[in-house]
Order: sequence, then C-alpha cells, then structure tokens
Amino acid sequence: MDDGDIRPVESHRELPKGSDFSQISPEVLKASESWGVNDYNDISEVYEDAMGADMAEIIFPVHKQLLATELNFAEKHRFLDVCCGTGSYLRQLSQAVSSDSELYGLDLSKGQIEAAREKDAGGIPVKIKYAEGDAVTTEFPQQCDVVTMNLDTMNHLQRPEDWEVVLKKIHDALKPDGLFLFDINTQKRLVQDLNFPEVIVKPGLVHMDIGIGSEEMGDFIKQQHLMLAFKTMPDGTIKDYHARIQHIAPTEEKLYEMLGAAGFTSAQPVPISQEVRGKHIFLKNRLFIKARK
Ligand SMILES: C[S@@+](CC[C@H](N)C(=O)[O-])C[C@H]1O[C@@H](n2cnc3c(N)ncnc32)[C@H](O)[C@@H]1O
Repeated sequence: MDDGDIRPVESHRELPKGSDFSQISPEVLKASESWGVNDYNDISEVYEDAMGADMAEIIFPVHKQLLATELNFAEKHRFLDVCCGTGSYLRQLSQAVSSDSELYGLDLSKGQIEAAREKDAGGIPVKIKYAEGDAVTTEFPQQCDVVTMNLDTMNHLQRPEDWEVVLKKIHDALKPDGLFLFDINTQKRLVQDLNFPEVIVKPGLVHMDIGIGSEEMGDFIKQQHLMLAFKTMPDGTIKDYHARIQHIAPTEEKLYEMLGAAGFTSAQPVPISQEVRGKHIFLKNRLFIKARK
C-alpha cells in the first residue's frame, strides 16, 4: 500500500478494518485522497477547541510534576516542543517558567502555526518562538533542557527511518542530562481503538476520528483514519473540516531499541493514574515516556 491508497487494508493478522465499524461512502473516501496525509491545515481552525487545549490541560500537569523534581522553574531553561500544533502545551509552559526562559515550537502545518500565533496574541507571560517546518529535516535549537513531542506526534512521522532521524536529532539538541518527554499511541491503540470511530461532542462542535484500516510493517503497525469536524457558525450554518491521518507505531521493544540507538542513556514509562487516564478518550492505550540524554 502506498501513502495515497487509503482503501481498507487487508493484513496477515486479520487486524480490524475501519470498514468493520463505519460506513464511509466511496465519494468521501475518494475525496479524502486529495487531503494530503497528516495535513492539519484545514482542521487547524478547530483543532485547539476540539482537542488541543483539553489535551494540554491534561498532559502539561503530568510533565510539570515530573519536571519539578528535575529542574528549578525559577531558573532560565530552554524548551523545544516538536510538532507543537496550535501551541497549547507551550502556552501552559509559558505560565510556569522563568521570564528569561526560551520556548520554541516547530510544526509542519502553516495553519497550526498561524492558529498558535493568533492564540498567543491574546497575551502570554513568555514569548514563544515558532517555526514552520518538517521535524525530520528542520534544524532544531540546540542546548535544550527539555524537548517534548506531545499527543502522538511521533506517530505522525510516516516512516520508521523518520523516527530514527528525529530521535537522534532530539538527543543531539539536548544538553547533557536533558530530558525528552513524549507520548505515543501504542500498537494496541492503533488497532483496537482507532479502528473504531471516536467522537468528541461539544456545544457547537463535533469532532470524529474514523478508522479506515491498519496493516503490519515489520516492527511497526500503520493505521489510517479520517478526522472530521463540524462547527456551528455564529449565523447558524455548519462548516466542516477534515484531515487524513496516518499513524505508525512500533512495538515497545522496538521503541526502546530506537531510543538507545539514538543515544539516550535511559528511558522509562511515565506512570499515569487511572484518574488522569479517565479524563479523555485519547488517553486510552497511550504510552508516556521520559528519556534522558
Ligand atoms: C495530533 S497533533 C499534536 C499537536 C500538539 N503537539 C498538541 O499537543 O496539540 C499532530 C501535529 O503534528 C504536526 N506534524 C505532523 N507531521 C509533522 C512533521 N513531519 N513535522 C512537524 N510537524 C508535524 C501536525 O501538523 C500537527 O500539528
């Protein structure tokens, strides 16, 4: 299967197919072929309200508690958030760090970066420096104390070799002893959860992820889903937004092997309480990792 082919995928292991759980018309499937894999430009207008802000409000406190044992927030530090989306995590960070700390955000999507800058224009304690670019090829700020990749952004890197490149780049961008905090959708989440539709319903906004199919790729599993959102506009009309998302996820063994190969001296799961996991459906089968240079 190439990246342009989003028909339900048959697999050796009889993985569930999106078409087992949803009925997507051929016209919509055909239209989605022109959306561009992992292109958030269309959905960026509703991304923050649909999920970005909610997830940052859950993930940031977990990181803050963990970082409080590692560094003094009152001192100057450099943070880099790779695939920062609409900047929701960095805005939370901005409230917690010293006024001379440096916050960097990088994202591939012009729409996401524009939305981030718009949100920041409302006023934040520490200015965030954004760049638009591909995490695989864009140069990262160096000598970072902490690098983050939140909300399954690692899964968005499309090829196993992209994971290796980005892990090495993050390792190299960290100061000695620096920390890399990230979360991934596990293989279980790709196959068991994301092949079922997941729906977020808010006043005037409905967001859904609808699985199309999954397949095995050696140590990785690849899954594709359509992201659809419907927003009620002030004049009562409904506007729709879309993205075609492809995730890949390695076995946990492969993940730790790649972290070691990138040079990280330690890596372990961050425990997430049931209470926190219960706060959002996106936290199901999500693995949080703390890795140290
Ligand atoms: C699920 S969103 C997560 C955004 C943000 N980290 C958050 O917590 O809200 C995935 C983001 O990854 C970005 N992305 C996908 N592939 C990328 C790449 N190769 N380089 C940089 N950003 C990428 C998308 O544009 C999107 O904003």
